[in-house]
Amino acid sequence: MISNDDNIIITVKKEICKVKDITELNLLKVKYLGKKGYITLQFLLLKKLNIKDRINKSVILNNQKKQIKLIIKKKLEELKFNKVNKQFIKKQIDVSLPGKSIELGTEHPLNSTINEIESFFIKLGFKIVAGYEIEDVFHNFDALNIPQNHPARTQQDTFWVNKNILLRTQTSNVQIRVMEKFSPPICILTSGKVYRNDYDHNHTPMFHQIEGLFIDKQISFINLKETLLLFLKSFFSKKCQIRFRPSYFPFTEPSLEIDIMNKKKKWIEVLGAGMIHPNVLKYVNLDSSIYSGFAFGLGVERLAMLRYNLNDIRLFFENDVRFLQQFKLNNFI
Ligand code: PHE
Repeated sequence: MISNDDNIIITVKKEICKVKDITELNLLKVKYLGKKGYITLQFLLLKKLNIKDRINKSVILNNQKKQIKLIIKKKLEELKFNKVNKQFIKKQIDVSLPGKSIELGTEHPLNSTINEIESFFIKLGFKIVAGYEIEDVFHNFDALNIPQNHPARTQQDTFWVNKNILLRTQTSNVQIRVMEKFSPPICILTSGKVYRNDYDHNHTPMFHQIEGLFIDKQISFINLKETLLLFLKSFFSKKCQIRFRPSYFPFTEPSLEIDIMNKKKKWIEVLGAGMIHPNVLKYVNLDSSIYSGFAFGLGVERLAMLRYNLNDIRLFFENDVRFLQQFKLNNFI
């Protein structure tokens, strides 16, 4: 039986309302317009009718076919539109969301320590100079009066590049470089990396030193002592406990080391110093009967560890932002 013209269109409209995606729509299209679909079957049934009815019904069927096609086309457009719309909504920016904040980096505690120390000595009249990290034996050892058999020269402590070239083990090499180039009065400060084959919670193979050198006529031990006391009291506090201890460095005579009392009441060595040894002055052609001077070498990591109360030197070099972020400027003011 050929169904009523309106009924079939109503049925298709009802069914199409339930269609959720293009796959379902295609199934519906096959059901009504496909080779074995409803409309095709209805056309086949026409054969059984007389000519007049056949003509009438075929007009109706063609009309139904057109309408169904139109309904399907509209649904297809609607589905496509919804799909694009959904994607668009998904991608839309929610302007009410809080923005991503830009984190400010922090100065590395070692850099801020070096900067602070340099500014202090600049105020006293010291000039900042740079030196070589890759050095020859003469400037790192010989000219500093370090004997051939000194343990620091051995494979254990020094990183050798070849027989004559090494990674400097101390910033004292800069003393020689400066004295070779300039004549007194010399008043310089230099900071940088030094290298020793050592590794534990108190030592890293690379660490930082700051070296000071003051050469002029009539420079005495009192100048050395007062300069370093002034610096340490300014860097730590006026009340900090400072201990001067006799020591030995081949390039200074007399030599001393300075310890600071930490929070656990333990003495911690922070620097070595002394009056320039006459042999060193001789190496750079300075007359030790006219000129004298002092030098000191500070361990930057040690000073920073004491100041910030740290117990492991390796923290400085692990690049852990949780550690580094604690040194935001305001934290220590
Ligand atoms: N260069 C010495 C060291 O590395 C420190 C020092 C510097 C000592 C200057 C005396 C004078 O231990």
